[in-house]
Amino acid sequence: MYQFIAGLPKVELHLHIEGSLEPELMFALALHNNIAIPFTNPDEVRAAYDFSNLQSFLDIYYQGAQVLVKQSDFYDLTWAYMLRCKADNVLHTELFFDPQTHTDRGISFDTVMKGITQALAQAEVELGISSQLILCFLRHLDEASAFETLQQATPWKESIVAVGLDSSEVGHPPEKFARVFAAAREQGYLTVAHAGEEGPSSNIIDALDVLKVSRIDHGVRCVDDPQLVARLIEQKVHLTICPLSNTKLKVFESMKRHTIVDLLRQGVSVGINADDPAYFGGYMNDNFNAVASAHQLSFEEIAKFTHNAIDASFCSIERKLELRQHLQVYVDSQ
Ligand code: ADE
Ligand code: ZN
Repeated sequence: MYQFIAGLPKVELHLHIEGSLEPELMFALALHNNIAIPFTNPDEVRAAYDFSNLQSFLDIYYQGAQVLVKQSDFYDLTWAYMLRCKADNVLHTELFFDPQTHTDRGISFDTVMKGITQALAQAEVELGISSQLILCFLRHLDEASAFETLQQATPWKESIVAVGLDSSEVGHPPEKFARVFAAAREQGYLTVAHAGEEGPSSNIIDALDVLKVSRIDHGVRCVDDPQLVARLIEQKVHLTICPLSNTKLKVFESMKRHTIVDLLRQGVSVGINADDPAYFGGYMNDNFNAVASAHQLSFEEIAKFTHNAIDASFCSIERKLELRQHLQVYVDSQ
């Protein structure tokens, strides 16, 4: 099974680039940029990653991101992630970035974008990995700040496929960003949103109806509303599920209790993703392996996660055909 997973072509649709900052790189950048961090070595950093809920993680995650200052830091961060994609046979990835985490510290939007896009372009040429970039608004900040961020993105519009919504879900429902998302859609961006991670299933409905999202990030709380599950199946709404994230943040008490396999078997389009791999203990293969060790799955069911992700991705029709072909060749060879 693990061998099948290792060789399986994969598509990742839920990855925060700031969440791929490994403690070793965090230390190197802190030293280089003269940023104080409250740890003496990378092992100490890892030991601090013991979360009780989403907010306890976000506090540490935003602190970690402060070591990212220069264009080359964003390049190094992104390149390291793309090498992990190569190792895990991820052929296409759609990455989130949180501009406000950086612009609020005086780092320019251009600095962030130049570093990230340089690494993505290099990965396409040297590693054969295609990618798309999704700008996420931080939902704990206000609407005005989100509008300002949307404005800053204008010169980079060709490099950003969609806008998304992340950070603290409880207390910051989708409606708070209805007008920003409407403006983004008018400018031609696709939309996605974190919903039903810690917040109620009604946030999933509002993300669909108010923000008009193409897919839902997490969405695992949909199981509280059978009518909503029926709607997700009927309308083929994809959920970008992040198994290790969900257990690390206590959304589920164990991987055995995770509902991803139930949802798959009911016919919901679900995929497996890493979310913030440096913080949650694993990249794509680790997430697939964690699900496969806790649940009895056939090869066909495991391959279905990739199949669903290809269908839900924002890449071109031509690229989707190529990805489907890679998957088919692999499954047929088993
Ligand atoms: N930002 C990074 N990871 C996140 C998550 N799992 N939920 C909400 N915001 C995030
Ligand atoms: Zn996320």
